[in-house]
Amino acid sequence: MRPRSTSPTRRPAIVAALCAAVLTVTGLSAAAPPSDPPHAVAALPYQDAGLPVQDRVADLLARMTLDDKLGQMTQVEKDALLPQSDLAAYRIGSVLSGGDSTVSPNNAQTWADTYDSLQRTALGTPLAIPMIYGIDAVHGHNAVRGATIFPHNIALGATRDPALAQRVGRAVAEEVAGTGIDWSFAPCLCVARNDRWGRTYESFGETPELPTSMATFVTGMQGQTLGGDPASVLATAKHYIGDGGTTGGVDQGNSEVSEAELRAVHLPPFKEAVRRGVGSVMLSYSSFNGVRSHASKYLVTDVLKGELGFTGFVVSDWAAVDQLDGQTGFTGAEIATSVNAGVDMVMVPHDYRKFLTLLRGEVGAGRIPLPRVDDANRRILTKKFQLGLFERPLTNRSLTPAVGSAEHRALARETVRASQVLLKNDGGMLPLGKSAKLFVAGKSADDIGNQSGGWTLGWQGRSGPVTEGTTVLQGIRATAADPSRVTYDRYGNGIDGSYTAAVAVVGETPYAEMHGDRPGGMGLDQEDLQTLARLKASGVPVVVVLVAGRPLDIAAQLPDWKALMAAWLPGSEGRGVADVLFGDHAPTGRLPMSWMRSASQQPINDGDGKSPLFPYGFGLTFTSNPVPDPDPGPDPDPTPAGKVCTAALRVVNSWPGGHQAEVTVRNSGTAPLTGWTVDWDLGGATISSLWKGVLTVAGGRATVRNTASNGAVAVGATTSFGFTGGGTAGAPAPRCTAG
Ligand code: BGC
Ligand code: BGC
Repeated sequence: MRPRSTSPTRRPAIVAALCAAVLTVTGLSAAAPPSDPPHAVAALPYQDAGLPVQDRVADLLARMTLDDKLGQMTQVEKDALLPQSDLAAYRIGSVLSGGDSTVSPNNAQTWADTYDSLQRTALGTPLAIPMIYGIDAVHGHNAVRGATIFPHNIALGATRDPALAQRVGRAVAEEVAGTGIDWSFAPCLCVARNDRWGRTYESFGETPELPTSMATFVTGMQGQTLGGDPASVLATAKHYIGDGGTTGGVDQGNSEVSEAELRAVHLPPFKEAVRRGVGSVMLSYSSFNGVRSHASKYLVTDVLKGELGFTGFVVSDWAAVDQLDGQTGFTGAEIATSVNAGVDMVMVPHDYRKFLTLLRGEVGAGRIPLPRVDDANRRILTKKFQLGLFERPLTNRSLTPAVGSAEHRALARETVRASQVLLKNDGGMLPLGKSAKLFVAGKSADDIGNQSGGWTLGWQGRSGPVTEGTTVLQGIRATAADPSRVTYDRYGNGIDGSYTAAVAVVGETPYAEMHGDRPGGMGLDQEDLQTLARLKASGVPVVVVLVAGRPLDIAAQLPDWKALMAAWLPGSEGRGVADVLFGDHAPTGRLPMSWMRSASQQPINDGDGKSPLFPYGFGLTFTSNPVPDPDPGPDPDPTPAGKVCTAALRVVNSWPGGHQAEVTVRNSGTAPLTGWTVDWDLGGATISSLWKGVLTVAGGRATVRNTASNGAVAVGATTSFGFTGGGTAGAPAPRCTAG
């Protein structure tokens, strides 16, 4: 349960339910203002926080009308909700802020007020089911002015420090919870295979192992248990699946890879996120061999919910369902296809009236079975109960000061310095002396917007002083012994031979999805090239700090530079860059992506036989030595190396009081299996006879071990067992353990 607020002025949801019921009867507006009777008692089982979540969900479901249920499956953009009372009138279950959705004035207080106002409206329905609010807090609570902006994921990957990623996830959750918001559409567990993709910076790295290791971010956001502490925020593993594997690195494109490659490269981070209990999964706009994720029952229901045993809910991406047929505007067929594929909540995000009409039509016509609607509701409501939303629906204002706090900014600065990757350092050019006479130039030297990148105070981000923080130049000045010995000119004008070094902070300007793809050249822009040329002409040794969302094509300019440091998109705490430039901290970052020799090498990835400019994992220290491999640490996955299996249960026949099922065991690892064990929760069902396996039942769980003849399974191959049982099988999610 989520202790979201300790405020005595908080109104329990039950009161809202009662008020609403009364108001409905008397025909008054359902949006009741809060009132605070001292001791409200839970009148109905679902309102009893002492009951198990499962029982509360069952009780609530039994009380819901079809309209209540369809509303829960609907997510609407805040700014499209007009009038706000539609939230209650249409029983809408979730609100989001898209990348350009904001509040005015933009500060944490207004966000919290906005949240509370919407939540009060949502509670004004007969059952007073709270809404859940989602936002893209993908590198800090980045829509909120004054929030701490952390480096983007590509930089977290460079740290090779999953524990640090977890701490960052926690800090972001605290800031998000401080504005009342319950849910973040993060982390992106994309494995970016082609750096032309405009979302490369949202990826922790190009190998499956790196994003998998950084799934600790999920635990940071949610805490050890969802709703177990006041700052617990529902995380989202996105975008399932293959978003980073599209041909040409095209955003929303087509991943033309074998299923074996999809499973080997793109699935592991999701598997790990599910193991960590991630509460939601967002589907990818992209297709797998021509089939959109949003239409793939196999990938969503069979693999994610079945094999991986994901028990949270699946949310569609922004307008993705209404694009399924390649045209804007919903059709009933698109909705039926995606809901039947396994989408539980649809990010509509605008035309909720039309969406609900069509959804109701599909259900009424039997094209979407009612049990599917109930399953979606069960998944969504379970997370709402676990978050503690029914008990504490409003913002916990004691968390609001966490937004942009000094503590979080210090953590962001630590993350920035841990993510700097030193790629070249001729003659020990770095670290810079603190008393050196320095000339700083470049379009990103003094620009918070540029150093933060996309998804910062707006969807695509933008250049300029978009929020509070420290620019790289300010960091340099603050670290230098005498700031008056640091001269700055954006374009490099005015430099002469008197300087010890010229620091050029150049790279990419902000972009996000769709706009960020670079199908052509991947080099520096004209302004950067001209600035660099001016610095070079002065004869002063040049140190380049590259502020960019991905490796760039810089091989032609590299010989002109004495030193090169990849700073990625560091966010609001530019001082972390200076910490490394001046040697207060030695660089320890290592490349999360192979660095191309030329754009024509894309895609270029570790182990593909191509010859990069700098290989995956490369990074220097100040002694010109490579940064040593960090201590691998304890393996989060206790299964023997390479031995991994997954299981899926399929009911092949059912009759009143009984069923027959088949369980497929797949070797999804990289080494042959020599034995396996599958177990699942019987959920009240019984097993009467089982074949091709050895059964034990204990504590309501079935455990099936391989027989002497089906324990050995080759990589990628499957085996199976079957059984007949009493009762209904429900939707068990079997777990498979190798060995
Ligand atoms: C993006 C998602 C994001 C969603 C909501 C989509 O366009 O692909 O990553 O979570 O918008 O803003
Ligand atoms: C929204 C984003 C969304 C994008 C998709 C933007 O207007 O703000 O959240 O991802 O549209 O097209």
